[in-house]
Amino acid sequence: MTDLSEKPPVGASVWERDLWTHLTSHVRAERAMLEEYQAAADATGSKALQYLVGLLIDDEIRHHKIFQELAESLRTCAELGQGEPVIPAMDFHQADKREVLDITDRLLDSERLDAAELKRLRKELHDVKDTTLWGVLVEQMQRDTDKHIALLRFVKRHAGSRRF
Ligand SMILES: [Fe+2]
Ligand SMILES: [Fe+2]
Repeated sequence: MTDLSEKPPVGASVWERDLWTHLTSHVRAERAMLEEYQAAADATGSKALQYLVGLLIDDEIRHHKIFQELAESLRTCAELGQGEPVIPAMDFHQADKREVLDITDRLLDSERLDAAELKRLRKELHDVKDTTLWGVLVEQMQRDTDKHIALLRFVKRHAGSRRF
């Protein structure tokens, strides 16, 4: 896993400096947690535990990546003339507003169908919810679906807007 240089950005404001400290300390905490999960997965004799910890590791790797990208983007924005930040600016105005709204509405419909389907599946698995991992896994997908809906709503709310 790559590490970002921990030197605060040059010419940063107080707010940027505080945020930088917060982000980089979070990157370190996430890395420590990831190592702990990895050790737990390696040490256990339980395949079920190993499987679930594997899912957590996937999430933590993603969190680590996003925190790194947040810190790198903060650096790019604080140090003027550094080019494009890895996390793009809010340039939704570059896309046709009508088109974005059509796409997000369509995707929101699919996500809502997916949510209803997962709810049904969860009910179907009720009898085995404490004897298999299946129910808890479907529950995680329900949480993912909530996340997808939140992201799409964000895009919809900001369609056509320019914020930089
Ligand atoms: Fe995390
Ligand atoms: Fe989804």
